[in-house]
Amino acid sequence: MWQKKAVTRSQYANGSAGILLEADATRAGDLLKPYQSAAAVVYLDPPRPTQTTAAYQVKLGSDGYLPGGPEIALPAFNGFPENPEAYSAALEPLLAAGIDILSPSGTLFVHLDHRIHAYVKIQLDKLMGEAGFINEIIWERGTGAPAARHFNRRHDVIYLYRKSAGAYFDITRAPVTRNPRRRHMRRETDADGNTVYMNRSGGKTYAYPADNPAYPTDIWTDVSLLSHKDPQRTGFPSQKPLALLKRIIRTASRPGDLVADLCCGSGTTLLCAALEERRFLGVDMSPHAVSAAAKRLYGFGFYQERAADTGEAIPRATVSRAIGLYSVTLEDFPFPVLPVTLPIGYTPRPLDAVDQWAAGFIQDGVFMALDVSARTKNTPTLRHTLEIPMLPGPIALEITDIGSRRHLYVYEEI
Ligand SMILES: C[S@@+](CC[C@H](N)C(=O)[O-])C[C@H]1O[C@@H](n2cnc3c(N)ncnc32)[C@H](O)[C@@H]1O
Repeated sequence: MWQKKAVTRSQYANGSAGILLEADATRAGDLLKPYQSAAAVVYLDPPRPTQTTAAYQVKLGSDGYLPGGPEIALPAFNGFPENPEAYSAALEPLLAAGIDILSPSGTLFVHLDHRIHAYVKIQLDKLMGEAGFINEIIWERGTGAPAARHFNRRHDVIYLYRKSAGAYFDITRAPVTRNPRRRHMRRETDADGNTVYMNRSGGKTYAYPADNPAYPTDIWTDVSLLSHKDPQRTGFPSQKPLALLKRIIRTASRPGDLVADLCCGSGTTLLCAALEERRFLGVDMSPHAVSAAAKRLYGFGFYQERAADTGEAIPRATVSRAIGLYSVTLEDFPFPVLPVTLPIGYTPRPLDAVDQWAAGFIQDGVFMALDVSARTKNTPTLRHTLEIPMLPGPIALEITDIGSRRHLYVYEEI
């Protein structure tokens, strides 16, 4: 009844917000060709120089979202080499791919940690030209393991480079709250009754109206890493806060521009671009990253390009007709083989294997998703029944299992 299909492209709603690709960005020449010189912003947040494999925390079933509920940690992506020369060599093709899609008036942001940024600065100067270097942004993440034998390491570095002097930049799009204590200012009321911040310097007194906007410098201390309980958290390792990307996207692009992230992880850049009415291009080679990112983007129309699993898993799902629509009910899906052991005492329920699913049609070799359900903090329980209008083409199902494998099926009546 349900036949596996090797359809790789999916479209959600009208697809107008952007595209998400599961690919090694350094080998995705053909996929990235249409975006050559097209992106107003390219943000790259490559893996850190560490031998460890970062783990993706996946909740098991609806109960997984309860405090202390069952969850597993799946290997999501490997760190880059610790040796600086080897790190730079691993990064070089990613930087080249990013620069290739950057528009002549675009801005490149490269996010690095304290161990490696000095080496990459020299690399970027060579690739973008010394004149292209604009800022070294210090992001004080607001955390860091307590240290007794050195100063606590609390910051990342984000390099900002431009291809040309004519690059777009508008600092007024990212106002910040004035912090009177940091700026040695006092809050006072002036003779006209207005609230002002006063600053005395060189024998002179300066007064700034309290409602005058302030703008960020190259030291960002007002954006914190996501806490464990933050509602933004997806479980994907090294997920960045939306507020960080908002500042980048707002200052360096306009609505309608293309914002690209070739190491998109959980899709923070893509979600932020969509929220700010920019188009997005997201690439990641980790299926877990693409799965986590897709879940955050279903509220927008986008395309996804991902390999379809060729294994034997077949869903138990029924199709019924109502006036003008089909109802597709998912009853069961085989539990995938995972590279980790399940928590003791956990017994999977019929739909626990499914992280997200969509119903729609195959049209011109593309799966057109018309109704989607995904497990999130707000919707831990999947909808068992999806409803789709009666359109031409075979009815199809896309299922992403909790191991982040994407399965595609078409319905054949018997
Ligand atoms: C630090 S994480 C990015 C986190 C992301 N900024 C977020 O907010 O979730 C780095 C990502 O780079 C991806 N990556 C590493 N090498 C890649 C490559 N050659 N092509 C595509 N993705 C790559 C990893 O799979 C990982 O998801």
